[in-house]
Amino acid sequence: MPDSTSKALPDQLWRPLTQHRNLQGKDSHFIVEAKGCYLTDQDGKSYLDTLAGLWCVNVGYGRQELADVAQAQMSRLPYLNPTLTAEPTATFANTLQELLGFEGHVYFSSSGSEANETAFKMVRQHHLQAGTSGQRRFKIISRYRAYHGNTMGALAATGQAERKIGYEPGPPGFVHVMPPYPYRAHPKLTLEEHGEECAHQIEETIIYEGSDTVAAVIMEPIISGGGVLIPPDNYLPRVREICDRYGVLLIFDEVVSGFGRTGSLFGHSHFDTLPDIITFAKGLASGYMPIGATVAREEIFESFLGEPGDISHFRQVNTFGGHPVATAVAQKAVTITLEEDLTGNARDVGEYLRGQLQSALGEHPHVGDIRGMGLLNAVELVEDKESKTPLREAGVTGLIAHAFENGVLLGRNGNTIPGRCNILLISPPLILNRMDADKIVEAVVAGLGAISE
Ligand SMILES: Cc1ncc(COP(=O)(O)O)c(C=O)c1O
Repeated sequence: MPDSTSKALPDQLWRPLTQHRNLQGKDSHFIVEAKGCYLTDQDGKSYLDTLAGLWCVNVGYGRQELADVAQAQMSRLPYLNPTLTAEPTATFANTLQELLGFEGHVYFSSSGSEANETAFKMVRQHHLQAGTSGQRRFKIISRYRAYHGNTMGALAATGQAERKIGYEPGPPGFVHVMPPYPYRAHPKLTLEEHGEECAHQIEETIIYEGSDTVAAVIMEPIISGGGVLIPPDNYLPRVREICDRYGVLLIFDEVVSGFGRTGSLFGHSHFDTLPDIITFAKGLASGYMPIGATVAREEIFESFLGEPGDISHFRQVNTFGGHPVATAVAQKAVTITLEEDLTGNARDVGEYLRGQLQSALGEHPHVGDIRGMGLLNAVELVEDKESKTPLREAGVTGLIAHAFENGVLLGRNGNTIPGRCNILLISPPLILNRMDADKIVEAVVAGLGAISE
C-alpha cells in the first residue's frame, strides 16, 4: 500500500472534466483541509472557494456539528436497506415536505442525476397508471444550456452539447427548447415579451410533438451551471399555465437553487410558481454527505397505489438512497441554514457582490453582463460590448488561472456550449462575508488586467 501521508501522491486518479495532458506537473497538487470559505493545499497556501465545492458546501467547510451528527448516526445505525425505514430518513422527508408547503412524498437517492432520473421514471409511470392520455406520454421537454446530470437520461435532458458529444445517442424522447436569456434576447423585445416568447416556444413544442406524447417539462428555475440565466418574472407562471393546459407535468430541478443559494429558500419561490415534482441534491446536506431527493405531489404518489400483487408501485431502488447518515446530516445542515439565516446572508452579500462587481467592472470592455440572484452569480465575458462575441477561450482560462495563482478559485460554464464557455461563475458558500466578496472582485479585476496586457 502506498503511504497516504507522503507528500508525493501516486497519480492514478482520473479527474473529471480534466485534460490530463494540460496538468503539467500540477497533478501533485492536493488540498488537505478546508474551513469556512477557504481551502488549504499541501504547502499551506489558501484559496477562497467561490464555487462552494461544486455549488454545494452552502454552510461552509469545517462544521464540527455536522461531523458529530454523522459520527453519532454511524455508531447507531450506519446503513439500512432502503426498503426498511430509518428514523432520520423518515424525519427528513417530513421536514422537506413541511418546508415546501405542499403535500407530497419524498424519494431519496444519492445525487442530482439520480434525483432527475427518478423524476423521469415517475412521470412516465404516473401517466401510464393515471390514464392521462390515449397515447403513451413519455417525452421530456428541457432547455438548451441547462445541466441535469451525467447519467444517460439526465444527460439526454441536458442542453449542453459539449457534455454529450461522443456519448450519444442517448435515450429517445428528449426534446429541447431555448431558455430565456435576457442579455442575448432580441433587442426589439421587452423583458416581458422575451419571457412570453420563450414560454410560447414550449407550448408550440408540446403541440408539434403531439401533446398526448409529452410527459413533462423539466427546468431549473434559474439555469445555474449553464451560465446563470434568470428568467423574466412572467416566464415560470406562463410555463405552469401551459403545462396545466396540456396535462404535462412540471419538474423543477432545484439541485443548485434549492436551500438558500438564490437568496430564497427555494429558487421557485421568487416566481410564485409550484412544480409537480421537485428535485434536490448538492446543498441538501451541504456537500457533507451525498444525497438526492425527488419530491412528488400527492396526486402523483397516489397514482402508484394499485392493487397488492400488481406492479403499479415504483419499481426502483437506490442502494444508498435514504442513507441514514446522509439524511441525519442533511437535517442538521438545513437546520443550520434556517437558524443562521444563510438565505438572508446570500441575499445581502450577493447584492453587495454584484454592486461591487458593477462599479469595478461595469465599464470594462470585456465585461458584457453582471447578473445573479443571491449567491448564484455570473460575469459574462465578451470581446467587446457591441458585438457581444464571447471572449476567446484562452482569455477566460487565463483569467481563471491568474485568480487561482492569487488564491481565488473561480468557476466558469466550462464544457457546455461549443465556443460559448465565456461565463465566469461565482457561487460561494452562503456564509460569505463582504470582505471575501471584495476579494473576489479584486481577483476578477486583476485577472482581467492580466489577460488584457
Ligand atoms: C442543476 C443540476 N442538476 C443536476 C445535477 C447533477 O447532480 P449530480 O452531479 O449530483 O449528479 C447538477 C450538477 O451539477 C446540476 O447543476
